[in-house]
Amino acid sequence: MVRWEEKSIVDAAKKRSGHVEVNMVDAKDTPLEITAKSSGLPEGVVLQRCVSHYRNLHTTAALEGLGHRVVNNFRSASISSDKVFCSIALARAGIPTPRTFLATTEESALNALERLGYPAVVKPVVGSWGRLSALLKDPDFARAIIEDREYMYPMYQVYYLQEFVKRPPRDIRSFVVGDKTVAAIYRISASDWRTNTARGGKAEKCPITPEIDELSLKSARAVGGEIVGVDLMESSTEGMVVHEVNNTTEFKNTVPATGVDIPGLIVDYLVSLEKR
Ligand SMILES: Nc1ncnc2c1ncn2[C@@H]1O[C@H](COP(=O)(O)OP(=O)(O)O)[C@@H](O)[C@H]1O
Ligand SMILES: [Mg+2]
Repeated sequence: MVRWEEKSIVDAAKKRSGHVEVNMVDAKDTPLEITAKSSGLPEGVVLQRCVSHYRNLHTTAALEGLGHRVVNNFRSASISSDKVFCSIALARAGIPTPRTFLATTEESALNALERLGYPAVVKPVVGSWGRLSALLKDPDFARAIIEDREYMYPMYQVYYLQEFVKRPPRDIRSFVVGDKTVAAIYRISASDWRTNTARGGKAEKCPITPEIDELSLKSARAVGGEIVGVDLMESSTEGMVVHEVNNTTEFKNTVPATGVDIPGLIVDYLVSLEKR
């Protein structure tokens, strides 16, 4: 799916002097012979931009197996595209992150929620834009939501349960390209507890403080990500916490809010990889 992001990356590549050759490959109509010696595609670094989780992960694995350098690589993509794997990586790296439980049955999910206390948050392990995440205000409400999930696709019975972080009505999204934090925005929403700009959260420039810079780079490193979006919250009790790292990140609201040429920086980073 060619979004504003993909268009702007291609435009940025065209503008680079010395000519950067770009080939758009539509994963939907490109079968990959995973047992062959090469993909048959032009050689070079692949920037993975598939929106679909499974398509993204599997074509990344296939292209890597066929000898391409893919950004983000398969290991990193598999960690950061699953909220359980991502939280494990953040916690193990010593990055402050909200208290989180994994549970795989209705009963153990309710048990975990008792230990977390209410309100708490349940999220699908795979997904974005805050979709199907729920704020659980009390045990009755939690039981109803968890019961609903029991009738859904098995992935929705992998319960990712998290303390509700007390914070201002905003969170922070930072962007890491290579080894730099290149931009950050506040995502502000007074009407929904989820601040995702895809849900109407407003984007405003956020200064990249040394703390945001350090946490963002550490978080990207914790999942092995090269081009990632890092989600942070300003907890009123714990200070700055990182709640997730995003793999194939969107930035159409961030570029106008910050004036940072994220697509250009992405192209420069990919070109630097070609030269290595
Ligand atoms: N534990 C939490 N406490 C308070 N707000 C949260 C919590 N988790 C998520 N949110 C809000 O919901 C939004 C979406 O959650 P997130 O974990 O980033 O999932 P998604 O992949 O859908 O973006 C966050 O940007 C934040 O505004
Ligand atoms: Mg998020």
